[in-house]
Parts: sequence; C-alpha cells; structure tokens
Amino acid sequence: MAGRVDGKVALVTGGASGLGAESARRLAREGAKVMLTDLAADAGQAVADEILDAGGTAAFLTQDVTDEARWGEVVAATLDRFGGIDVLVNSAGVGDGGQSILEATLEAWRRIVSINLDGTFLGVKTVAPIMVAAGRGSIINLSSILGKVGLPGASAYCASKGGVLMLTKSVALELAPLGVRVNSVHPGFIETPMVVNAFRRSENENEMRDTIISRHAMARLGVPREIADAIVFLASDESSFMTGSEMVVDGGYTAA
Ligand SMILES: NC(=O)c1ccc[n+]([C@@H]2O[C@H](COP(=O)([O-])OP(=O)(O)OC[C@H]3O[C@@H](n4cnc5c(N)ncnc54)[C@H](O)[C@@H]3O)[C@@H](O)[C@H]2O)c1
Repeated sequence: MAGRVDGKVALVTGGASGLGAESARRLAREGAKVMLTDLAADAGQAVADEILDAGGTAAFLTQDVTDEARWGEVVAATLDRFGGIDVLVNSAGVGDGGQSILEATLEAWRRIVSINLDGTFLGVKTVAPIMVAAGRGSIINLSSILGKVGLPGASAYCASKGGVLMLTKSVALELAPLGVRVNSVHPGFIETPMVVNAFRRSENENEMRDTIISRHAMARLGVPREIADAIVFLASDESSFMTGSEMVVDGGYTAA
C-alpha cells in the first residue's frame, strides 16, 4: 500500500526530540526519506537509526538553526543525499524560562527569538528556492497556541511564535503562485521534554501540570503523535488546497 508521503524528501529540524522526532518517524513510516537535524547529535542520530531499523530511510546532520552558513550546508547535503527537498518541518525551538517582563533581559529575549523566529526564517529562506525551482513543496512551521494567545511570563516565546505565524502567512502569499505551500501548526501543551522540563522547573510541578491541563477543554495534555499526524497531513498532497493556514491542534485550549 502506498504511503501518504511516498517518495517525498522531508527535512526536519529539531529532529532529536519531541515533536520533530515523532514527525520524522511518522513521515518515514508514510514513505518519506527524512533528513533530521538538531544541535543534539547523539539523540538525533538515535532517532535516524531507529527509523532505519524500522525499514525507513533517514539520515542525521548536526545543525544550529541560527547559523545561516550551516543552513546552506544542510540543504546541499540533503540534495546530495536524497535528490530534492519536498517538505520542510521547522520544529527546532526553545521554551521560555518563565520570566516576568519586569525581570526580562534582552539577552534571554534575543536567544529565544533567534532560535524560534530567526531559525524558522533561515529555514524558509534557504529551502524556498529549491522548492520554487521544482515547482512544488510544503513548508510546515511550528508556531504554538502561544503564537495566538498570551501567557504570563512567556513574552519572548509568545512574540517569537506570533512572528512565526505571520512569517508563514506572508511567505504563503508569495509562494502560492509558484507551487509552494506554507502553513503553521499551533499545538496546545504536548507531553514532550520541553513541556515536562518546564513543569519540573516550576515551584510546584503537580500544581502547574494540573493548571495547564485544566486550560484544555479535553482536560489532558496532547501526545506527540497528535501533532505529528497533523504534520504528515500538511506534508502530504491531501492538504493540496491549504496554504497560509493556522492548524490549531490544542484539545480546545483556544476555543474558550
Ligand atoms: N511541546 C509543546 O507543548 C509545544 C507546543 C507548541 C509548540 N511547540 C513547538 O514545537 C517545536 C518542538 O518542540 P518540542 O516540544 O518537540 O521540544 P523539544 O525540546 O522536545 O525539542 C526541541 C528540539 O529542538 C532542538 N534545538 C533547540 N535549539 C536548537 C538550535 N539552535 N538548532 C537546532 N536545534 C535546536 C533541541 O535540541 C531539541 O531536540 C518547538 O518549536 C516548540 O516551540 C511545542
């Protein structure tokens, strides 16, 4: 039976952990050749090995998404290895340390915006010409519900994710006539190392977990598979009439 993204080549940043890792696994299971990248080399290579062991096609490269020159090398290596890039998933990202604006520092702000927003911009900018030349492609940017609604203590994160939302829409308008689709995904709180570590760092881990859970109408956290499935859909031709959309997958967090 043909996979949903059979024969496509997907480049997935943040592929060593959480949503990037699960997206890479599911894209590979649906027939894509996957290039994973991340700062975390051992963990990233382990995800690629897992995909290979399961009979899929994958490779891993170390990458800091804030480094423009490295983006050029990663794209060249992906073309060399797999012959094209049909799908880009910009999943590399960092959370906020929970800093009030009254204590915020420019240094912390710049770090978050540089990874979450500049990193996504560089990915789109470097990969778009390849997709435009091929006349097809799907770019999927990980924003967040926190790119649509605020959270106290997360101003830099929210600003970076709101930036990803509007970057996505602008580029979608530019690239639609050229055959390239660009969409953002807005997860609620999903059980990944990013979220679990944020709970651990809080003063009362269980209380924070319960508070966050209570904000989702479905009264639970999401699991990575639930976001990866949305990403496979956006990567596949099933979503051929979608561009510039905000795909919210949040258990009802923003419905209220
Ligand atoms: N988990 C959630 O609830 C949630 C909700 C909304 C949006 N998101 C977004 O989804 C994306 C993935 O989050 P996750 O939950 O899987 O987090 P995660 O921490 O599990 O994974 C993020 C990965 O990004 C990598 N990374 C960090 N900085 C990098 C850099 N400069 N260059 C390359 N790689 C880098 C990390 O090494 C890590 O492997 C992020 O953009 C995040 O903001 C997550």
